[in-house]
Amino acid sequence: MKIFNLLLIGSGAREQALAKALTKNTKNNKIINLYNIGSHVNPGIANRINTLPIQNAIEIQIIPYDDLEKIKNFAQEKKIDLAIIGPEQPLELGLADALWEINIPVIGPRKSLAQIETSKGFARDLMKKYEINARPLYQRFACFNQEAEDFLMALNQNYVIKADGLMSGKGVKVFGDHLHSLKDSIQFCQEIDGPFVIEEKLSGPEFSLLSLSDGLTLAHMPAVQDHKRLLENDEGPNTGGMGTYTLANHRLNFLSSNDIQEAQKINEAVMQALQQETGESYQGILYGGFMKTASGIKVIEYNARFGDPEAINLLGLLKTDFLDICLAMINKTLALLNPIEFSQEASVCKYLVPEGYPEMGKKGDVLDLSFLSSKELENLYFSSLIEKSNQFIMQGSRAMAVLSIHPEIAQAEAQVEKIISKIQGNFYHRRDIGKIKKIRKIRKIAILGSTRGSILESFADLIKTQNLPIELSLLITDQADAPILERGHSLNIPSEFLSAKGLSREAYGENLNLKLQEKNIDLIILIGFMRILPSVFIKQWENKIINIHPSLLPKYAGLMDLEVHKAALLNFTQGGDQETGCTAHLVIEEVDAGKILTQKRCPILKTDTPESLKSKVQALEASALVEAVEILIKSTSLKNTMGAI
Ligand code: AMP
Ligand code: GLY
Repeated sequence: MKIFNLLLIGSGAREQALAKALTKNTKNNKIINLYNIGSHVNPGIANRINTLPIQNAIEIQIIPYDDLEKIKNFAQEKKIDLAIIGPEQPLELGLADALWEINIPVIGPRKSLAQIETSKGFARDLMKKYEINARPLYQRFACFNQEAEDFLMALNQNYVIKADGLMSGKGVKVFGDHLHSLKDSIQFCQEIDGPFVIEEKLSGPEFSLLSLSDGLTLAHMPAVQDHKRLLENDEGPNTGGMGTYTLANHRLNFLSSNDIQEAQKINEAVMQALQQETGESYQGILYGGFMKTASGIKVIEYNARFGDPEAINLLGLLKTDFLDICLAMINKTLALLNPIEFSQEASVCKYLVPEGYPEMGKKGDVLDLSFLSSKELENLYFSSLIEKSNQFIMQGSRAMAVLSIHPEIAQAEAQVEKIISKIQGNFYHRRDIGKIKKIRKIRKIAILGSTRGSILESFADLIKTQNLPIELSLLITDQADAPILERGHSLNIPSEFLSAKGLSREAYGENLNLKLQEKNIDLIILIGFMRILPSVFIKQWENKIINIHPSLLPKYAGLMDLEVHKAALLNFTQGGDQETGCTAHLVIEEVDAGKILTQKRCPILKTDTPESLKSKVQALEASALVEAVEILIKSTSLKNTMGAI
């Protein structure tokens, strides 16, 4: 058993989550002595309600973060092996630099690297210099002046004003939400009384993507959504964060796996840029705050540490031993630990705040926890709260977070609410956080056709009347004068002619593929498409191309249009087929031979002609297509590749 003397800096709920993760010792191969320096004694870190494994020795010291000498002396005296810095202030004050100076390894970046958080202007300039373009327009100002006013005017009420330095998430005001006139805005710029940034206001849902960094490799954590606004429906002033949730698939409903990859790539680029700019190695957590906008993933802000409350969710889900991760970050061996594992469950965390928060949070109100079971107490994470004579007293800022983890987000949310309902006191929390409406994923369909496409209207009609989660997102024809093109236009489907002139089958397939990918198409439907698709294309879209054929396949496979109906009638007159119909099937290389998804039938009558059979069968085709699409949406192969929730 190796003994580790760990120094944890910070006194909030995030640090309690860190203390829990550090002392968990999942491999049971370490003895951990935990030393904690902070602004007050956190009852959770002090293990007053058995939130930590009891075999650990814990000592807490109150030392101001700017007393670097005192912290260094304490660390030397306790023979600290590793320090972990939770909050941003000690990073800004250079505590990481001070501890590295006395050869104590630190999780948390040096002061120069931490500027990515401590100066919003630095962060924007860095992204600009290193051509990381996922950012809004912005300008930095040392104080309010005519240029700042001109920039506000130029952005035409579409702006956000941010104090350049650390403001605990409260130095940002958004036009339309917190600022309602140019006069308000100028006044806020003047109130900041220091440098500030004005930037273009972006819109879209926000998410956090945090990555662990050893200076060489980033290990990305599940995406989290933080709700920074005080009031329900994300209204009211900004706060330090009122609550967070994650989903079991480690994505959020509004994000695709491409979006996640995009955010991960941005974190990687920013880490590289930061290291290049400062010449230092980033060993700690890089926290990207993103927005999914109509023009892609954009950066709202960067933090140089774990988020609070994000850390509570993420460390709660973490399965890999956290101390092993910290040691790998110090030894630059994170790549060897990958993949770092997180439980595939959902998590919800909500903060309880005192009356008057965030402007003037009331100090002194008590939270009565006596109705909670010992199991429920384990879900509590204390922040701006002290314990005195067995009473838990709120100190004005976010007081306590409640976490729950469950395979289903609805259950996790309900458990958090149940625990909160048993807590007595004068506090406020947001009930809406984690109440996720199961949004239906809309599947994007492309139609390929060369002829009339007579069934298009009835297909579009069925989608509408049955309120199916399907969008006809693209129509492509290979014939400039095909009537299906006009049909597509009149149904408001983006429709175009893609010429095959002079192209090989393969080259045409590539062009087609590009068009489909541009539109993020999920499924392809062939309606009278007369061109043979190349095998590469068919592989790329395996199990995702549906063809509709006007016969009960395998009968009359290979025949087309009226030929099929003539053959069916002939067979009927010879005493054979009594019925005909249509088949929706998957497309494979062999013509009309792919797996049958569904068939619709109708009788053949003596009075039928090939033309009358054609129109009877066409009347069945739209509903066959709808059924086939539904079958594919439900099938597991499509679910996996399309990342359904
Ligand atoms: P920050 O402290 O930079 O994360 O900003 C706090 C909050 O202000 C964010 O979570 C957003 O809701 C909002 N915000 C910041 N920057 C922008 C922006 N450029 N466009 C729209 N909203 C923003
Ligand atoms: N949850 C937001 C932050 O930690 O900055």
